[in-house]
Amino acid sequence: MGSEKLPRNVIITGLQWGDEGKGKVVDLLARKSQHVVRFQGGNNAGHTLVVAGQQSILHVVPSGILHPGTTCVVGNGVVVDPEVLCQELRALEAKGVDLSGDRLIISEQAHVILPYHRTLDDCRETALGGKKIGTTKKGIGPTYEDKVARRGVRVGDLLDEDALRNRLLAVLPEKNRILTEWYGDAAHTVEELLAWARPLAERLRPHVRDTVAWLHRANRAGDRILFEGAQGTFLDVDHGTYPFVTSSNTVAGQACAGTGVGPTDIHAIVGIAKAYTTRVGAGPFPTELDDDLGARIREIGHEYGATTGRPRRCGWFDAALVRHAVQLNGTTHVALTKLDVLSGLESLLIAHAYDGLDSVPSGAEALAAVRPVYEEVPGWTEDITGCRSYDELPAACRAYVERIETLIGVPVGLVSVGPGRDEVIPRSPLFADD
Ligand code: GDP
Ligand code: IMO
Ligand code: MG
Repeated sequence: MGSEKLPRNVIITGLQWGDEGKGKVVDLLARKSQHVVRFQGGNNAGHTLVVAGQQSILHVVPSGILHPGTTCVVGNGVVVDPEVLCQELRALEAKGVDLSGDRLIISEQAHVILPYHRTLDDCRETALGGKKIGTTKKGIGPTYEDKVARRGVRVGDLLDEDALRNRLLAVLPEKNRILTEWYGDAAHTVEELLAWARPLAERLRPHVRDTVAWLHRANRAGDRILFEGAQGTFLDVDHGTYPFVTSSNTVAGQACAGTGVGPTDIHAIVGIAKAYTTRVGAGPFPTELDDDLGARIREIGHEYGATTGRPRRCGWFDAALVRHAVQLNGTTHVALTKLDVLSGLESLLIAHAYDGLDSVPSGAEALAAVRPVYEEVPGWTEDITGCRSYDELPAACRAYVERIETLIGVPVGLVSVGPGRDEVIPRSPLFADD
């Protein structure tokens, strides 16, 4: 596997529209890390880990939590629904995960998703009717709006009832007017929100820290830090298929702003790509298979949202899109997941370009108008879930991986052949067992 120097601080991002298998790869790499930090998004994310046959789906807690030697950090760039986070902590404790000490720490600067943010997300989607984004309705967009508009509530405010009361007194009149007069929904009172916040704040208080200082100390000590992205590159609010995007920057650059660690302290950027493409929610999808084959991939790949349960739209691998994502993220290594799902197809299509274009247009309308140019490659029939070395894969399967590698311009350092932690084929020292 060569004598590549092992990078210390590593960012993981999705190279498509989310659900690429980031959680699984973070869990795998967390063995070698002392800290795992989320840097954007909130509980719109659903990251699945399968360890010894047992599935855990994490929405806010970083995917390193099953490795007792890690500190999991909810960074300043995340938006936190305290109710959902408390539920997640209960579920982890019920599974026997120890969350005491420094196992989970939450930034006092992270913004809080309040009940009115969830209501507004729902009301806005309903009002859009047939033009809706298909959000997760978790309040993500309205919370980031308030952050940027400087009327948000931060985790630090949640812990200080006087500060919280003052924030709510300032913002609630406007919120209530929008909720009642524009959307015909119910108003909130300051006292009701304070009563909602009180027990949640007490539950979370032991975990709230200055995470920036924590990460700076860790970095100075030479610890390994893993940065866990949520969503995917084409859901990025700037670079995605706007307006069918999420409300944060999802690209690797955000890992720095969302944690306070500077760009010169990042040593590798791992992009996760599925061996085909999926998308949940509305928006353009050039290689979508809106037919029986798409439905077959959905069933074999269990392509149903980990957060909302919605069926995911499925399609061919889009190398033009992933090649663009590689550049947007500065990707140094790629992990190709769910290759096993493609077993049994006679031949496969890969989109290698968009007709007449030498770059990927941004924005929904432009991307909806592209015509993918496909090449056809042979499929394979063998079940590959038991393969643990690259040589064991059928020749056609290796050819598929290598063609993708050539088209996207980055080596595939890890191939994933099943949901389980061990169902992987490392091809780079970064992913190998020590
Ligand atoms: P994330 O949001 O990027 O963490 O991905 P999700 O957890 O939402 O979706 C990925 C799904 O694929 C989960 O159900 C994983 O357990 C599963 N998965 C991950 N890698 C593989 C793989 O290589 N093969 C198969 N069959 N399933 C996988
Ligand atoms: P993970 O981290 C896939 C999608 C929603 C919708 C759009 C905006 O598991 O990969 P939002 O609720 O964020 O305002 O919705 O973004 N979306 C995701 N799709 N995986 C995710 O996260 C997603 N998080 C949001 O479906 O289209
Ligand atoms: Mg997911």
